[in-house]
Amino acid sequence: MTKIILKDIPDLHKLDVYEANGGYQSIRKALKEMSPDDVTTVVKNSNLRGRGGACFPTGLKWTFMPKQTDKPKYLCCNGDESEPGSFKDREIFEKNPHQFIEGVLLACYAMGIKAAYVYIRGEYFKWINLLQDALDDAYKKGYIGKNIFGSEFSTDIYIHRGAGAYICGEESALMNSVEGKRGYPRVKPPFPAAYGLWGCPTTINNIETLANIPEIIKNGAEWFTQIGEPKHPGTLLFGVSGHVNKPGVYELPTGTPLMTIINDVCGGVLDGKKIKMVIPGGSSMPPLTPEECLTAKMDNESLKEFGSSIGTAGVMVMNEDTDLLKVLIRIAKFYYHESCGQCTPCREGTGWLLRILNRIDAGHGRISDLDLLTSVALNIEGNTICALGDAAAWPVKWTIKKFRADFEARVSKDDVQVPVLNKVHSMR
Ligand SMILES: Cc1cc2nc3c(=O)[nH]c(=O)nc-3n(C[C@H](O)[C@H](O)[C@H](O)COP(=O)(O)O)c2cc1C
Ligand code: SF4
Repeated sequence: MTKIILKDIPDLHKLDVYEANGGYQSIRKALKEMSPDDVTTVVKNSNLRGRGGACFPTGLKWTFMPKQTDKPKYLCCNGDESEPGSFKDREIFEKNPHQFIEGVLLACYAMGIKAAYVYIRGEYFKWINLLQDALDDAYKKGYIGKNIFGSEFSTDIYIHRGAGAYICGEESALMNSVEGKRGYPRVKPPFPAAYGLWGCPTTINNIETLANIPEIIKNGAEWFTQIGEPKHPGTLLFGVSGHVNKPGVYELPTGTPLMTIINDVCGGVLDGKKIKMVIPGGSSMPPLTPEECLTAKMDNESLKEFGSSIGTAGVMVMNEDTDLLKVLIRIAKFYYHESCGQCTPCREGTGWLLRILNRIDAGHGRISDLDLLTSVALNIEGNTICALGDAAAWPVKWTIKKFRADFEARVSKDDVQVPVLNKVHSMR
C-alpha cells in the first residue's frame, strides 16, 4: 500500500538514512531544474488539500502570496495539534522529520520566503526536541541557512513553542502568538497572504501538508492524483483512538472505508462490542451513526453525504456502552475552556451549552432542553470571528440530531416553551 510519509524504513528520522532513501533530492531537483512557479504549479496540479482540518487546496493558497513586495514573507508551519482526537503531526516529527523539513524548504523556495516558523504545542516536549535535533543536523550539513546546495536560495527555520492554548492553532491566533501577543484570532480580511506575521505576507500550512510536498515534487502531480479519492487525493495519517483493539496512527489512502480502518487496520471494536458512534476527524466534526459507519468512506467529499468532514482525520470510536451525554459534556467543557472570549456568541454560548448539558446530567433536564441546546448551537455557528465557535456548536447540534432518542431518554417529558428556536440574524 502506498505510503508517502510514514514509510516503514527503520531509522528514517536520521539524516543519513533519509538521504540514503532519496531524501533532499526533491529540493536539489527544484533548485537545479525548476523555477519557484514550477514548484507551485506541480503542487497545484497535484490537488493536495490542506491536512490541518479545512482541506483548502495547498497550491492555490501558495498563489495568494504576492510576488512583488518589499516586505519579508513568512511561512508558518502549524504543529499546534490541540484538537481532541488529533495526534498525527507528532508522528511526523518522530518518524520522518527531514521530509517535513524538505517540504518547508520547497514551500519557501516556491513562495520566495526566507524564514519559516514551526509552531508546536508546548506539551510536545519530546517532539520539539526531536525536530530540533533534525533541524540541527540539517543546518550542520548546510541544507538550511545560507545558499542552500550552492544556490542563491537561503532560508532559516525556527521552532516556536506554544503554551498550551488550543486557539493558537487557528492561523491568525498562531501569528499573534509568534509575535509575542495574546493568541487572539484576527478578523479576516485582511487574510494572511496580505497581512500576516508582523503585517507581512504569510502562508500557514499544516505539518502533514508540508511533509507531502517532497514526494509530490519527486514523483509528479499525476502520481499524487492517482492515490485515493480523486477529489481529495493522497494519503491521510489517521489517528485512531477510543474503543478499538489497536489504536494508533495509520497512513492510508483517502477514501478508505471507515469499517476497513476499524476492523482490518485497528483489529475491531474492543471486546467485540457494537459501535455506538464514531467521530471521523477530531472532536469538532459531526459524528457518524452505526448505519452511516457501514458505508462511510474517509475523505472530505465522501463524508459530506453524512453532514460531516474529514477534519484532522482523528477517528474516535465509541462502543455501545458509551454515554453520549458524558461525551458531549466532555467536548463542551473543552471548547468552553478554550474559547478566547473575544466574541459573545462563542464566549457565552459555549458556557450555556455546558451548563444545560450538566443540568441534564444532574437529572434536571427537560425535553425542551434538547431544542434549547440546538438553538444555542445555531446561534454560535457562523456568528464568530474564528471557527472555534463552529467547532463548539457542531458536535452538540449533530449529536442531538442524530442520536435524539438517547438524549430524550435522559430528560423529563414536562415540556417548557423555548423562546429562541431559530437562528438570530448573522453578524456577518
Ligand atoms: C480553533 C482552531 C484550531 C486549529 N488548530 C489547528 C492545528 O492545531 N493545526 C493545524 O494545522 N490547523 C489548525 N487549525 C486550522 C488553521 O487555522 C489553518 O487552516 C491550517 O493550519 C492551514 O493549514 P493547511 O491549509 O495546510 O491545512 C485550527 C483552526 C481553528 C479554528
Ligand atoms: S470564536 Fe471563540 S475562540 Fe474564536 S475568536 Fe471568537 S471567542 Fe475567540
